[in-house]
Amino acid sequence: MNRPDRPVDRDFRATLKRQRPCLLWFTGLSGSGKSTIANLVEQRLAALALHTYLLDGDIVRTGLSRDLGFSAADRVENIRRIGEVSRIMVDAGLIVITAFISPFRSDREIVRALMNDGDFIEVFVDTPLAECERRDPKGLYKRARAGEIRDFTGIDSPYEVPPAPTIRLQTLRASAEECADQVIAHLAAHGHLRPGMV
Ligand code: ADX
Repeated sequence: MNRPDRPVDRDFRATLKRQRPCLLWFTGLSGSGKSTIANLVEQRLAALALHTYLLDGDIVRTGLSRDLGFSAADRVENIRRIGEVSRIMVDAGLIVITAFISPFRSDREIVRALMNDGDFIEVFVDTPLAECERRDPKGLYKRARAGEIRDFTGIDSPYEVPPAPTIRLQTLRASAEECADQVIAHLAAHGHLRPGMV
């Protein structure tokens, strides 16, 4: 969003911050580890004095999207709002990290299309449903299996696996710390971190 009538633009703000803004879009099932890994990534970037913001369900579903539930239409609208907010925050010069199930491929592609080429980094937290259900950190899978929650992702609502994510994290093979390292290594290899930072 560089406009001649607004000289304080994205490039200006990014230069001030001495960083290359981008959107790290975590997607995966509930309980897959998105928020945990996203949090570690944010901590590592902050330790490098980079300016970040982590958007997750705690912030968004109690505020911006508090009028939305988990029907397909509401999830589409939830992701649309998060995509628009992320775009503005990237324009502001931040490294934005989001952690939402974002189950539909078409919605993730809509967010990708909002961003400049190379700014959208899709991070698939690839944890099998059986493992998410075994972890069940909030007890929601148990309740969904008991029929107490409807439209639960992976149970009676679909999750569309990203066919070509930028980064794929396999949490059965690597710890959350190792997964965060993988994301940082990607950012370093693709010019998002200044040489010598990591
Ligand atoms: S999304 O589908 O719109 O991207 P979002 O990431 O905001 O979902 O919220 C998912 C979180 O809401 C889950 O991790 C879980 O804690 C909670 N939740 C409550 N009901 C559901 C449901 N029916 N399906 C999935 N998650 C649910």
